[in-house]
Amino acid sequence: MIRAGVITVSTKGALGKRVDESGPAMHEMLVTAGHSVVHQALVPDEVEAIATAILAAVHARANVVLTTGGTGLSPNDVTPEATRRVIDREIPGIAEALRARSLEKTAHAMLSRGVAGAVGASLVVNLPGSPRAVRESLEVLLPVLEHAVELLAGESGERGHATGRR
Ligand code: MTE
Repeated sequence: MIRAGVITVSTKGALGKRVDESGPAMHEMLVTAGHSVVHQALVPDEVEAIATAILAAVHARANVVLTTGGTGLSPNDVTPEATRRVIDREIPGIAEALRARSLEKTAHAMLSRGVAGAVGASLVVNLPGSPRAVRESLEVLLPVLEHAVELLAGESGERGHATGRR
């Protein structure tokens, strides 16, 4: 059972100067996939605000926390730094897979510095900021979420390992 936290990182969004389309896109895809969203937030591009929002989602019992935005190269982009501050283990393969699969769609994928990791038994993944990037990233991520959450919770057995293999 996936209980997701959805965090949009956008200074303009937090100030009400831009409508957040990426958070709702993420919410819709998660619910369509049969998951529940237990926490949603919109925060500015500030390390403290992002780190606090991730921990708030974990405290709301989210076992998957997805951020969107702030992964790029502009001086304001600090989502990876904030995420590194709160995760206790990095899960590089997830970020590698997101970039590799996204590179098939756009060369700009290499400009995302998004990271993935665990806060205790909760999985945290940074996605880029556009609704399109969210959709493309979730296509890669959704098929592995349940198994990742089971592994983090220490619940997975042989069957879990066997399914999802091609
Ligand atoms: N990944 C996918 N799958 N699709 C995209 O459209 N856009 C890229 C990249 N990753 C993109 C993507 C672009 S244009 C940028 S600048 C970086 O993500 C960082 O985006 P962010 O700063 O909004 O997080």
